[in-house]
Amino acid sequence: MEVAVIGAGTMGIGIAHVSAAAGHSVNLRDLEPNIVMDAIDTISTRLGSGVDRGALSQSQADTALDQLDGTTDLESAVSSADLVVEAIPEDLENKRELLADIEEFVDEEAVIATNTSSLSVTAIATALKHPERAVGLHFFNPPHKMKLVEVVLAEQTSDETAEFAEEFVADLEKTAVVVQDAPGFASSRLGLALGVEAMRMVEQGVASVEDIDASMELGYNHPVGPLELTDRVGLDVRLDILEYLHEELGDRFEPPEILRRKVEQGNIGKKVGRGFYVWEGGEPKDVADDEDYDIEDVI
Ligand code: NAI
Repeated sequence: MEVAVIGAGTMGIGIAHVSAAAGHSVNLRDLEPNIVMDAIDTISTRLGSGVDRGALSQSQADTALDQLDGTTDLESAVSSADLVVEAIPEDLENKRELLADIEEFVDEEAVIATNTSSLSVTAIATALKHPERAVGLHFFNPPHKMKLVEVVLAEQTSDETAEFAEEFVADLEKTAVVVQDAPGFASSRLGLALGVEAMRMVEQGVASVEDIDASMELGYNHPVGPLELTDRVGLDVRLDILEYLHEELGDRFEPPEILRRKVEQGNIGKKVGRGFYVWEGGEPKDVADDEDYDIEDVI
């Protein structure tokens, strides 16, 4: 199959990588040649590590690289694609504009997918003349390691498109979960529900940051606890999503004061070395002790 991936950032690189590794012919498009070249270098390095780990053979890696092409030209990227996956930044108007442009060049049978993590796929699809070909393919970061893909059905998505998307995910040896287009889909909504409650428990002094995380890691076999996960994702990212879910789904998703405070202080998690934990060498070392944080302010 021919797959076009539009946007060669964090997610586009991963989606192009897994698609090529599964034997698809992939065309990766970004706005600048150096971005595209760096992306292809990254994929090449990751395929090499896959060979070292025994995850794929040298000849599979070579075939994947041979099948991978990069361009800055939208028309050549998508004109012979069976599937186009957009992975440009999370902005509704830009995504809608891009989808309308893509539709000018694609085959009438081609499926157009968005990797949006939170926007309404139904709203994005309204940019198309044939919105029944639109679907959400929500990959998780990093796509070459994460097994889950949410197949998000817009109101307009046809049964054929949904089936095509599920088959594509199966082909990548990943698991598809099919979700109706609703705020936070399945994963963010559930993940944030746990995260928001964990933060409230810290505010209320129910248990320490480490013990709340340990209760989920050891009691429920979660690989990381909800507060460490928040640090890894970025407190700023989680605050943005919570604000959206709060607006759409009501007060149960109201962002806790401790989250707002940490974001205001710039303590946005692993990427800056401090969030709910202090981070060293890519690992949480100690619980961050926010001296100017007064529990009386928030309960
Ligand atoms: P990113 O910022 O790393 O990459 C976006 C890329 O798109 C950039 O290289 C940019 O130059 C390029 N771009 C912008 N407009 C373009 C256009 N018109 N044509 C071609 N390329 C264009 O963003 P990231 O993190 O990869 O996110 C992409 C999408 O994936 C967003 O919708 C995001 O919500 C979603 N997502 C992100 C996850 C993450 O952990 N980063 C996880 C799951 C989904």
